[in-house]
Amino acid sequence: MRQVSVPLIGAAGAWREAARGLLAAGVPPGDVLWNAEGQQEAPDLFGTEVSALVPTGDITVPRSFVALANSVCFHSDPQRYARLYALLWRLRAAPHLMSNRADPDLAKLRQMEKAVHRCRHKMRAFVRFREITAPGTNRRSFAAWFEPTHYTLEMNAAFFRDRFADMNWRIVTPDVTAIYDGADVRLEPGQDPPHLPEDASEELWLTYFRSIFNPARLKVSAMTSEMPRKYWKNLPEAAAIPDMIAGAPARARAMAAAAPTLPPVRAARAQAQLAAHKSAWTDGGAGLEADIRACTRCPLHCHATQAVCGEGPEDARLMIVGEQPGDQEDLAGRPFVGPAGQLFTRLAGQAGLDREAAYLTNAVKHFKHIPRGRRRIHQRPDAGEVAHCKWWLDAEIARTQPDLILAMGATAALALTGSGARITARRGRIERGLAGRDVLLTLHPSYLLRQPNEAARARATDDFRADMAQAAGLAPMSLGGPSPKRS
Ligand code: URA
Repeated sequence: MRQVSVPLIGAAGAWREAARGLLAAGVPPGDVLWNAEGQQEAPDLFGTEVSALVPTGDITVPRSFVALANSVCFHSDPQRYARLYALLWRLRAAPHLMSNRADPDLAKLRQMEKAVHRCRHKMRAFVRFREITAPGTNRRSFAAWFEPTHYTLEMNAAFFRDRFADMNWRIVTPDVTAIYDGADVRLEPGQDPPHLPEDASEELWLTYFRSIFNPARLKVSAMTSEMPRKYWKNLPEAAAIPDMIAGAPARARAMAAAAPTLPPVRAARAQAQLAAHKSAWTDGGAGLEADIRACTRCPLHCHATQAVCGEGPEDARLMIVGEQPGDQEDLAGRPFVGPAGQLFTRLAGQAGLDREAAYLTNAVKHFKHIPRGRRRIHQRPDAGEVAHCKWWLDAEIARTQPDLILAMGATAALALTGSGARITARRGRIERGLAGRDVLLTLHPSYLLRQPNEAARARATDDFRADMAQAAGLAPMSLGGPSPKRS
C-alpha cells in the first residue's frame, strides 16, 4: 500500500504530480491511500509505504480531465483524490470516458466540480471586508473572515487580487489565509477569526440592500438558495432579512394598491416575434455555415460584405453571443476581432476564460450600418431583424447544446431570453432562456468603451470581468494544447 499526502495549499499541483508518479509506476487505485492535509482519518498504516513519487515520462490525459481535477482537488470530500485517481486510472484504457455522461464515477466528480464552482461563486459574492488601515499608512487595508464549504480560497485568489488591486487585503478562512499587499497573493494556513472593527460603511450598505429588496417578488426558498443561511452570520445585511421578510406581505399589498406601471408595448411585441421564430433549420447537405453565408432572410445582407458565422468548438460547454459583427468583423468574416472583440478577449483571459474553448457567435449575422463619408456607422439591429436571425442562432444552439450561454449586451439578451429589460440591471444573473437553457447576462464589451469617464469604465470593466469569471469554469484557460470541450 502506498500512502500519499496532499497539502491543502497547492493541492491541485501536488495531486497531479503524485498521480503522474503513481500512474507511471503502474500503481492501481486500490493500492493507494490518499491523505488530505487536515482530514486524515487515522487509518491503520501497518505495511504502508509513504511515497514521494517522482513522475517519470510523459502521461497524456484529456484536457477536460485536467480541468475537472483542478476543481475537484478543492472539494472538501476526503475521498476526492482517490476518486480522481480511480478515474484517471480508468482513462488509460478508455480514453473516451470523459464524454460518457452515464458513467457514475465521472458523474459524481462532475457533481463535485459543480459544488466547487458554486462555492467559488458564493465566496466572490459574500466575502465582506472591513477596514483595518493602521494610522499613518498610505495604502488602505481590509480584512474578511469567511467560512467556505470547500477549499476555494486558492481558486479565488487571482479574482480578488484583480478586483481589489488598489488595497491591501487578507481573507481568513479556517483552512487557508490569502494575503495581498500589492505584489502577489500569499497563501498561508488558516487562522482563527480575526478581530474586525465595526465598519461605518456597513450602515450605508444595509440601506442600499433594503432599498433594492422588492417585497412583491419575495421567494424565500430562492433567496435562501441564492444566499444560503450558513453564510448569514458573516453577512452584515443578513441582520435585515428577517424584518424584510416579515414586512414583505404588507409592503407588497401597498405596492399593488398603488398605480400600476405597464411594460412598454414594444417589449410585448418583441417577445411575440421572438417566440414565433423557432428555428426549423435542417441540414440540406451544405451545412449550417454555408446556409448562414447564403442567407437572404432579411434585407441586412444587401449592405454587408458577408455573413459572419460563429466560431469555436461545436461541442463547447459555453456559448457566447454578441450583438452583430462590427466593421472589422464584416471585412474579416470572423466574430469579435475588432476593438470590442479584442477588449472582450483580453478581459475574458484575465478572468480565466479562454475564447478558443467557447463557441462564439452573434445574435445577428450581418453588419447593420449606415454610410457616413467613408465610414460605416454601426446601427443597432431592431427586434424584427433579431427575430429573423434567431433562426440561425437557434440552429447553432441546437447543434452545440451548451451548458451555459453568455449573452453579451441587450441584443443578445433579447434574442436569448425574449426580454428587453435593461441589461445593466440584469447583468451577473442567470435567466432561463427561450431555448430552455441557462443564460448568463453581461454587458456588451463596446459598452465599456463608451463609458464617459475612467471611474465608470473601471466599474463596468470590473463587472464585466466578474461575469466572465462566472462563466470561466466552462471554458477555462488551458496551458497549451487543445482546449477543454464537453465531457
Ligand atoms: N460586437 C459584437 O457583438 N460582435 C462582434 O462580432 C463584434 C463586435
